[in-house]
Amino acid sequence: MAGHFITFEGGEGAGKSTQIARLKAFLESQGQTVIVTREPGGSPGAEKIRAMLLSGGAKDLGPSGEAMLFAAARADHVDKTIKPALDRGDWVLCDRYADSTRVYQGEAGVDPDYLDLLETAAVAGIRPELTLLIDVPVEIGLGRVAVRSKTDDSGGPDRFEGEALAVHERRRQLFLSLARKEAYRFSVIDGAGTLDQVTEDILKAVQRAFPEELGSQSNLAEASEGNS
Ligand SMILES: Nc1ncnc2c1ncn2[C@@H]1O[C@H](COP(=O)(O)OP(=O)(O)OP(=O)(O)O)[C@@H](O)[C@H]1O
Ligand SMILES: [Mg+2]
Repeated sequence: MAGHFITFEGGEGAGKSTQIARLKAFLESQGQTVIVTREPGGSPGAEKIRAMLLSGGAKDLGPSGEAMLFAAARADHVDKTIKPALDRGDWVLCDRYADSTRVYQGEAGVDPDYLDLLETAAVAGIRPELTLLIDVPVEIGLGRVAVRSKTDDSGGPDRFEGEALAVHERRRQLFLSLARKEAYRFSVIDGAGTLDQVTEDILKAVQRAFPEELGSQSNLAEASEGNS
């Protein structure tokens, strides 16, 4: 593929959406063309499925039926949005991807082999070169989300946010174990620091993963800190 594919993963309130916007700005400052997209969703067809999934409208299908809907949405997203952008040579920054299905539907009890089949079909060979797992203690992430939903029009917790603390904690551990198993593409970022600290760690990880595209470490430090 001509472009580069980076996914962001982690629990609710980890800082994925915030940090994606910051990474986009950095890459653009380096002259790169960037698209930001998200899952579930990211293409007109997949956004319709997103609405169904996050409202809980598909809960009656059970966890494996929901997993099929996530896969259907992902297949459309890859086909209509991600692959065309990569073919153009763009950087694609994706807010959640296949790892979220492994973790959320895996935690809900769907057979990992079944999830693997769905994933293979949905991603059609399009896999991230780098996955940034933003890891925060569950209470911190959920605390941030609670503040956010008071200040925006998101209308309270969605289907997946509103679950028991123990569920969120199991998801966190599943993300961390995936990162250990597929360490070649994962970078685990401590999301508990300040926004600027987290951004700095992310820029370092991206720099390490794409040294040829993004120049030397010293250039990066100058760009992110604004000093010599
Ligand atoms: N490092 C941080 N320190 C303090 N506040 C933060 C930090 N990162 C994010 N926030 C705030 O926490 C809230 C959640 O962040 P954000 O929306 O980026 O998380 P997210 O991982 O995208 O969550 P979700 O999975 O629910 O989409 C936002 O209001 C954001 O401004
Ligand atoms: Mg988000």
